[in-house]
Amino acid sequence: MVARVIAVDPFDIVVFGATGDLAARKLIPALFHRDEAGQIPPDARIIGASRRKLSPKQYRELAKGWLLDHVAAEDRKDGKVDRFLGRIGYVSVEGDGDVGWDDLASALSDQPDRIRLFYLATGPDLFGPICAGIGRHNLNTPNSRVVVEKPIGKSLASATAVNNAIGAVFPEDRVYRIDHYLGKETVQNLMALRFANALFEPLWNAAHIDHVQITVAETLGVESRAGYYDTAGALRDMVQNHMLQLLCLVAMEPPTSLAADAVRDEKLKVLKTLVPITPETASENTVRGQYRAGASAGGPVKGYLEELGNPNSRTETFVGIKAEIANWRWAGVPFYLRSGKRLANRVSEIVVAFRPIPHSVFDKSAGPIDANRLVIRLQPDEGVRLWLMIKDPGPGGMRLQHVPLDMSFASVFNVRNPDAYERLLMDVVRGNQTLFMRRDEVEAAWTWVDPILDAWGNASDAPKPYTSGTWGPSAAIALIERNGRTWHEDEG
Ligand code: BG6
Repeated sequence: MVARVIAVDPFDIVVFGATGDLAARKLIPALFHRDEAGQIPPDARIIGASRRKLSPKQYRELAKGWLLDHVAAEDRKDGKVDRFLGRIGYVSVEGDGDVGWDDLASALSDQPDRIRLFYLATGPDLFGPICAGIGRHNLNTPNSRVVVEKPIGKSLASATAVNNAIGAVFPEDRVYRIDHYLGKETVQNLMALRFANALFEPLWNAAHIDHVQITVAETLGVESRAGYYDTAGALRDMVQNHMLQLLCLVAMEPPTSLAADAVRDEKLKVLKTLVPITPETASENTVRGQYRAGASAGGPVKGYLEELGNPNSRTETFVGIKAEIANWRWAGVPFYLRSGKRLANRVSEIVVAFRPIPHSVFDKSAGPIDANRLVIRLQPDEGVRLWLMIKDPGPGGMRLQHVPLDMSFASVFNVRNPDAYERLLMDVVRGNQTLFMRRDEVEAAWTWVDPILDAWGNASDAPKPYTSGTWGPSAAIALIERNGRTWHEDEG
């Protein structure tokens, strides 16, 4: 099957933070892939902008190196790299000063009507100053959009300040807050699964669903990102954004359409109905951990504190939460969230665990009857598995087995799975905000997260240690087993 490509309108994209990690690993490779797929019109331009003094030629050399590192050789054939590099320019600009802005203005001046993207691949402290610079130099044409990365702030107060600074220059309908999880193929498939099939929606509620698990487990540690990570921690880095967005997509009511505000209104309602976690309930409903030395991906690895070089850090690298949603559909259905670095496996999945059957007509000899589970696997091996009970084939009486109805996307659709950034960047060019977080969503998510941070900050205990290469602290297992449930482990 061949992926369908619809070309977008010509655009200019200015990438601030153009020499940083995100540009190198994600943005330049994503733009390259869209180019080689024929989606980017010939005259579209990419302008790198950062403090570093580089000539356009030097920046193109850097970009070429990133493509060699991050794009498969077979996709780089036939002069595609040179054609792509030909689109790239570079301007040295001080995001929080005045140097270089006139050069940027003249690089853009011949196309004032064109779609213009300002991608701020910088820390959030520069979002306000860069937006102010864009405003001061009149670069904010009616067709301009700004794209910002998470984290948007570190708390509700700081997120509000960042959003105010962006909002002083760009109206909300031109602000694109990226949560790259929303661009993942399987996350969008969740919408297809729920709303393009009649099968699930009638069962999608507390009467039929026992609980939901959302796991985002990584085997990597924080490594070179320790400086940033230590100021964030797993709750801010993963839960406030990615995991709450996944929870919203599972829990939201069917939107009236896929129009941006129709979907975002429904997600917002979920965020607002999350039961607040208070200092009194935090110790029962949350777990935080920090990895120690151990083994990961086949070799010995250091602990977080050694990687960071600070023995006193209390930043969590693991978080487990039992969340609840106070509305008619979900009352009494726990949503267990867990995410961590240096865990046993790299796996991100959503498990919808249905209730057991009300009564068994089978003899004991048929074996136990496990409840149905719908497992939506985000990565690796994207796909959907529906665990069902069936009869063990062959003669010998009725014996039952729990087996998955398995749809692995890689084996069904023989296409390269585009990176989330490819889709999201093209959505910005198209002006489609559906997969981007609206201001009130970000702030509602912080409203729920802030009291957890406060409770942890005031607690006398430190995050629970766990050995690298395990599933986190034992308290995370207790978090779910206390309620008579277990974390899903794929038996297939
Ligand atoms: C980022 C976090 O947003 O998501 C990282 O800052 C994390 O800490 C990453 O590793 C995970 O993304 P993915 O796409 O690899 O699951």
